[in-house]
Amino acid sequence: MSADKINKIKALVAGRSSEEALSILGREFSGRIVFSTSFGLEDQAITHIIFSHDLPIKIFTLDTGRLFPETYSVWNSTREKYGKKIESYSPNAETVQKMISAKGPNSFYESVDNRLECCYIRKVEPLQRALKGNEVWVTGIRKEQSSDRNNFSSVEWDEKNNMVKYHPIFDWNIEQLKIYIKDNNVPYNTLHDKGFPSIGCQPCTRAVKEGEDIRAGRWWWEDTNKKECGLHAK
Ligand code: ADX
Ligand code: SF4
Repeated sequence: MSADKINKIKALVAGRSSEEALSILGREFSGRIVFSTSFGLEDQAITHIIFSHDLPIKIFTLDTGRLFPETYSVWNSTREKYGKKIESYSPNAETVQKMISAKGPNSFYESVDNRLECCYIRKVEPLQRALKGNEVWVTGIRKEQSSDRNNFSSVEWDEKNNMVKYHPIFDWNIEQLKIYIKDNNVPYNTLHDKGFPSIGCQPCTRAVKEGEDIRAGRWWWEDTNKKECGLHAK
């Protein structure tokens, strides 16, 4: 079943541009295909494709409650530019209350388990709600983002969520992406101009130094190369 679906989607997108592929998948899976945005550069390029071609792909974001002010700003300017809806999913209020009451607001710095607990409550559980009832999940992952992601594939089976994941700009390099954003006048997060190639929650993201990895500023205090929050962990 999963192999059939993967093969079908691989065949549909083979040799197509990101625009063409998203357009074909939008038609084929209308009402069952969603795109998740964190308003990073990659996501803004995909949002531009979806909104400017009026593709039937729902766009949603996971508002963890701990995002940067700059992220909320680009969310707003994107709404204004395209005049389209971006659905927001919040964490379950009671679960957040319980975690914060027991462990304080910044428990994620204390242990990897606490960090994964916070990511689960603020991102993974809301993601499961957002994906429910869909067959294809579109993301902004690119292979050059990390050595781990370099081993992903642009069309893959997501065992945890029981659906196909598609990364339409998987092969784009950063220069290509920046040119696309500039040429199309796409709003972007101003933190990208201040040394933030990858932007997540404010307390868990910092700027990287020249030559450092794209994801070095994410959960920087943790001593591991495989830093994922559970959205894309395998
Ligand atoms: S993360 O797992 O480390 O946080 P990353 O920031 O690299 O992921 O983003 C990769 C892709 O995951 C994005 O292109 C987007 O599709 C999705 N994503 C990450 N964070 C969010 C979020 N808060 N809301 C919606 N989608 C997100
Ligand atoms: Fe919590 Fe940090 Fe994960 Fe955001 S990135 S959900 S603040 S641990």
